[in-house]
Amino acid sequence: MHPQLAHLQPYPFQRLGKLLADARPPAELPHISLAMGEPKHPAPQLVKDALCANLDGLSGYPATQGTAALRQACAAWAERRYGVKLDAEREVLPVNGSREALFALTQCLIDASAGDKPVVISPNPFYQIYEGAALLAGAEPCYLNCEAGNGFLPDWDSVPDAAWRRVQLAIVCSPGNPTGAVMPLADWEKLFALSDRYGFVIASDECYSEIHFGAPPLGGLEAVRLLGRGLDRLVMLTSLSKRSNVPGMRSGFVAGDAAILEKFLLYRTYHGCAMSLTVQAASQAAWNDEAHVESNRAAYAAKFDAVLPLLRTVLTVDRPDASFYLWAKVPGGDDVAFARALFASRNVTVLPGSYLARDAHGANPGRGYIRIALVAQLAECVAAARRIVEFCQHYAAAPA
Ligand SMILES: Cc1ncc(COP(=O)(O)O)c(C=O)c1O
Repeated sequence: MHPQLAHLQPYPFQRLGKLLADARPPAELPHISLAMGEPKHPAPQLVKDALCANLDGLSGYPATQGTAALRQACAAWAERRYGVKLDAEREVLPVNGSREALFALTQCLIDASAGDKPVVISPNPFYQIYEGAALLAGAEPCYLNCEAGNGFLPDWDSVPDAAWRRVQLAIVCSPGNPTGAVMPLADWEKLFALSDRYGFVIASDECYSEIHFGAPPLGGLEAVRLLGRGLDRLVMLTSLSKRSNVPGMRSGFVAGDAAILEKFLLYRTYHGCAMSLTVQAASQAAWNDEAHVESNRAAYAAKFDAVLPLLRTVLTVDRPDASFYLWAKVPGGDDVAFARALFASRNVTVLPGSYLARDAHGANPGRGYIRIALVAQLAECVAAARRIVEFCQHYAAAPA
């Protein structure tokens, strides 16, 4: 077996399952889960219609590169969203959601064959796929702590020159999971300069880019345009899962450096991960429509508006720049004990922040935080917030 399999960490939800296994929450309170970042708003009718209208696609083998029509729809969306003209033939590739693309891209990029062990830079806390992908590719993850003091953003200046020399891939997650922080242009400029100097690739995971509250957040492609540079060594990954409430459809695309995408397409041809023609047709319909995305955003904004004033009475918590997460500081500072006690006494599940981060530079930057995913319906989110408030009123006085 692959020796690195032994180094893969249990997934945060596995750890949460164990933590809560023997707790007995009050039966009279229905369970409300705000732990998993799984969209719960209904899938748009236009996507379901497109799936049904294209069932004949099931009888054909799809090409790994996807149809020209889908790639053109993705490129047109990127142009509307970021003002960047992409070559739909060479700079766009459909993928089965950003998770598999993050994993596969890392396997395709990392060269562990010579010299020093390669390094993959990851934010900390982070989406756990980054770590597993790096380990299985034979690289060493290097975690950059994203803490309140630096706006929950990685400090690119904190990486020493000797480490940069080994970096083959830097992963950006903006808007971030779990903090919702968006990386500003000055940080992009710094990261691009480092990439130009040391030659590493930047993978920009932007799957929360469409869940925002005001101006659309800056993305890597837009940063490229604003800084007047080319797409060299940049791959942006995006997804319909959150934007269009279709996490089960497994659809997204990557866009960026044509030379990298050419090799990535070759890799994917062998990997065998072409997107079904039926799903491609439905994805095309989704990327071509913004009306459903606007109502989706409005539904999330209504939840933040309703929940934040309640939670702020008991927790240190702010509206994120974007995403559907709240990253809340808990009283007492023990996120694991807080999440367990909240479940046991109020039947609400949230994710302990320390499960989403690693000890690095002397601290686990997730410790003392919980991640609250506002994915349930509005009334459920409000009911959960009320239960959290009641719970905290007692917990703050006598932490478990
Ligand atoms: C930061 C981040 N990246 C990528 C993904 C993967 O999403 P999908 O594969 O559905 O596009 C998720 C899912 O929760 C995520 O939180």
